[in-house]
Amino acid sequence: MSPKLIFLLGSLCLLVGTQVRAQDEEGADGVDANAEELCQDRPGDEYFRLSVEGDCRDVVRCDKASEIGVTRLATVRCPTGLAFDIERQTCDWKTNVKNCDQLESKQTLTQAPFVFCPGSGRCTRSGLKQITCPSGLAFDLDKQTCDWKGKVTNCDKLEKPRKVLPILKTDEPVCPEGKLSCGNGECVDKELFCNGKPDCKDESDENACTVETDPNRAPDCDPTQCVLPDCYCSADGTRIPGNIDPQQVPQMITITFNGAVNVDNIDLYEEIFNGQRQNPNGCQIRGTFFVSHKYTNYSAVQDLHRRGHEIAVFSLTHKEDPQYWSQGTYDDWLAEMAGARLIIERFANITDGSIIGVRAPYLRVGGNKQFEMMADQFFVYDASITASLGRVPIWPYTLYFRMPHRCNGNGGNCPSRSHPVWEMVMNELDRRDDPTFDESLPGCHMVDSCSNIQTGEQFARLLRHNFNRHFNSNRAPLGLHFHASWLKSKKEYKEELIKFIEEMIARSDVYFVTMVQVIKWMQQPTELSALRDFQDWKETCDEKGLPYCSLPNACPLTTRELPGETLRLFTCMECPNNYPWLLDPTGDGFSARK
Ligand SMILES: *[C@@H]1O[C@H](CO)[C@@H](O)[C@H](O)[C@H]1NC(C)=O
Ligand SMILES: *[C@@H]1O[C@H](CO)[C@@H](O)[C@H](O)[C@H]1NC(C)=O
Repeated sequence: MSPKLIFLLGSLCLLVGTQVRAQDEEGADGVDANAEELCQDRPGDEYFRLSVEGDCRDVVRCDKASEIGVTRLATVRCPTGLAFDIERQTCDWKTNVKNCDQLESKQTLTQAPFVFCPGSGRCTRSGLKQITCPSGLAFDLDKQTCDWKGKVTNCDKLEKPRKVLPILKTDEPVCPEGKLSCGNGECVDKELFCNGKPDCKDESDENACTVETDPNRAPDCDPTQCVLPDCYCSADGTRIPGNIDPQQVPQMITITFNGAVNVDNIDLYEEIFNGQRQNPNGCQIRGTFFVSHKYTNYSAVQDLHRRGHEIAVFSLTHKEDPQYWSQGTYDDWLAEMAGARLIIERFANITDGSIIGVRAPYLRVGGNKQFEMMADQFFVYDASITASLGRVPIWPYTLYFRMPHRCNGNGGNCPSRSHPVWEMVMNELDRRDDPTFDESLPGCHMVDSCSNIQTGEQFARLLRHNFNRHFNSNRAPLGLHFHASWLKSKKEYKEELIKFIEEMIARSDVYFVTMVQVIKWMQQPTELSALRDFQDWKETCDEKGLPYCSLPNACPLTTRELPGETLRLFTCMECPNNYPWLLDPTGDGFSARK
């Protein structure tokens, strides 16, 4: 991160901190007699100076919200070394601030809804001070975006305990061939390093296991060995498969939704995928649904599948503890993902083996264990690893060779070993409000984690700007990843998304496809001019048949694993005995009766 940005963040924290403290103190100090006068016609979120003397750090704003009906001045002091920029309404380096002789901003709020903040692009005046994340999320200061609470670890940065590291790089080999040195000089078989259980006495063999340091890590991409259709990689991840000229690459857009499918969102999906919107090849636009089990209406899932959308798994429990996912064992991942698939297959009667994708809750990837399980269970792809915003977006890749970008996010737990699994990498979206003007801002992976998107207009700009970013470079698939609740939170979001889709399908070079369709194209890269007849994209072209049932069973069920809860399972299939859960995914009961 740039020092400037760190600095801004620091000052932001302090700004908020001092504000709170200042108000507390005022309660004790009593009322400022001048306040009423000063605050007349002045918005409550505007900072201004009481004096041009001093070191330019102090400002006040009007606090009219107090219950007792008096107006008070809340004071703010920038951290030492900074000054308050009255036009930008934020603390900045002293040398940057040219308006210390000015008592108040020359712009009024109505004329200038946006102010420029150092190092981080534009923000609204109030937005700066009250970045609100949807409930359940918290603001991640490092990433400058809303994220799941459990993932935000910089609210109180604690120093990690120091771990002993193995001695992997030495001028002379210190151990016999096939062995490596532990931190204490002990020699241990290379294969035992990073296998999930300590073998060195000092346990150092498990302490350097990242994508870069694992002694048994996958090798760097070797394009002579890694060939399509089964293997795809490129040195920096940005190469187009088949070396197709970018002008001849279809711009694929993958719309995905995470979470339970039920009465809260079925209407939204019907509206977006209303059966009328078609790709240039005459097939309907498609989405990918990463389904979590609890509260899911399997009759609705069955219908999504019937209509040609892709169903993938987002875990069985969606447990709220991110550590559970990061540190999950092989068996945890097995029960969660293979279990979830079993449940969907049974209760949505999906029998064609088409559930082959996984997304990790909170995008907390489970390292090699998750991917080992996936390979064993014939899951074909993961769609959880995020690539931070770069100049050129990254194409999906296979994990036979080392991943072509840094493991940012995902709890730092990306797989280091070689796995026969596709990674449908999530390229972060560029969420700058004005890309021609703003400086760098870290991207966001889920559309709803772009905390600065507050209006439909901003969302519309985000969509088009990111489309252009992909379309005008290497045309890597553009992922639009949503939680339905966000799209439903404002009517204008849904409307803008639909507007965007209609605008795109009016072109001849954009396709809304599922993850599996992306893989199929990559396995057989086909130029735009020949794409109308691309057979692999015709398979799910039309809806199949009619809904399986008009009135699904609404099975009221319990399970010993969730004591006290009665859950309804909606399915066209027969009701099971119990609510399916980790130890009993079929719902038949713990001791399977035959
Ligand atoms: C479950 O989904 C089906 C199919 O979309 C729908 O007909 C039914 O009303 C849904 N039930 C509930 C309770 O949401
Ligand atoms: C489940 O799917 C299979 C294969 O598509 C079909 O033969 C069967 O009738 C379906 N069962 C129900 C209850 O819908």
